[in-house]
Amino acid sequence: MKLSQRSEAIVPSLIRDASRYCAELGALNLAQGLPDFPAPEFLKEAARKAIAEDHNQYCDSWGLEPLRIALAEKYARDNTMAVDPETEVTICCGATEGLNLALMVLLNPGDEVVVLTPFYENYKPNLATVGAIPRYVALSAPEWEITEAVLDEAFAGTPPKAIIVNNPANPTGKVWTHKELELLGRYCQRYDTWAIADEIYEYILYDDAKHISIASLPGMAERTITVNGFSKTFCVTGWRLGYVIAPALVSEGIRKVHDFLTICAPAPLQWAALAALEAGRDYYTDLCTLYQGKRALLLPALEKAGFKPIAPQGAYYVWTDVSILGAKDALEAAYLLAHKAGIAAVPGDCFLPEGKGNQSMRFCFAKRDETLIAASHQLAEFALIHAR
Ligand SMILES: Cc1ncc(COP(=O)(O)O)c(C=O)c1O
Repeated sequence: MKLSQRSEAIVPSLIRDASRYCAELGALNLAQGLPDFPAPEFLKEAARKAIAEDHNQYCDSWGLEPLRIALAEKYARDNTMAVDPETEVTICCGATEGLNLALMVLLNPGDEVVVLTPFYENYKPNLATVGAIPRYVALSAPEWEITEAVLDEAFAGTPPKAIIVNNPANPTGKVWTHKELELLGRYCQRYDTWAIADEIYEYILYDDAKHISIASLPGMAERTITVNGFSKTFCVTGWRLGYVIAPALVSEGIRKVHDFLTICAPAPLQWAALAALEAGRDYYTDLCTLYQGKRALLLPALEKAGFKPIAPQGAYYVWTDVSILGAKDALEAAYLLAHKAGIAAVPGDCFLPEGKGNQSMRFCFAKRDETLIAASHQLAEFALIHAR
């Protein structure tokens, strides 16, 4: 049987694939972006309470009203964005649904969307699903800087319909500066292009990195769809709770598609998410401190193994060159690491337009310290044997 062109265009996820073979091999999973430690107790308690109180049926399709209001307050407080909870916020099943909603509502088949590379794996299949065409523009390591030259290339010829702004970025950990966002904003306004801002890692920042929402810049709220969620900030990737912030007219389209796609996001967990948004500043500071410590465990281990990791400014991944392994490409390097070092990480192929011959891998450090310390030992041992 022949499946639809849409499904044929999608290559299975290398990230989730790595998690599967990792389990089979009993390797340490530094592949998929999910914590191997518990979610905060106050959140679990809030979820238990919501289920016990019988919030177990479909709820408002756009999302619980109190949660939309709390999100609008968060955006005013943390993102300097004025958001109307009545018309501009839609709660959905993870940022993943949010991103798909944004693409479905903005794009027609054949529309082009700028994707800066390396990029988060999902963007490619998500664009393929709506028949849109990625316009890949490479950023250069280690700064991943967005310059006029980069944007001239991105906006050359027929202006793109949209650009995806992943900030902080997966897999590079790049955090966009005010100057870069302002420059992009000017291009978007000049060429009538939309920004699709994926800000799922907004609270995971290192050193003096500061997150700025592109929609908060002058003239951008009306041409930005901001996608975000609770997965990463609150260590609940399995709750599948995300949201989309967009101008009222666009939100209307988003709500229609969302309603017929999933009806609503999990109702009891939306009540629990209210508790998440009540967390004080300490929660966010502690989150950065926690991941800063984990970054400090993984980075030197990768360096000692002879890799060339680039320190991330945000999110919880390290992007690194692994050519020291002498593998023919990253896929072979990933195989070697999993089978010989007992560590699963993601080969660069799924973050690049063309994986052929690349020597990059992504390691996730959203893991217990014990996991990261064990991984450091296994890496060091493997590097010793491999060097012989
Ligand atoms: C950049 C980026 N966006 C979105 C997601 C998915 O988020 P959610 O769990 O809310 O669907 C991920 C997950 O790894 C991600 O890295």
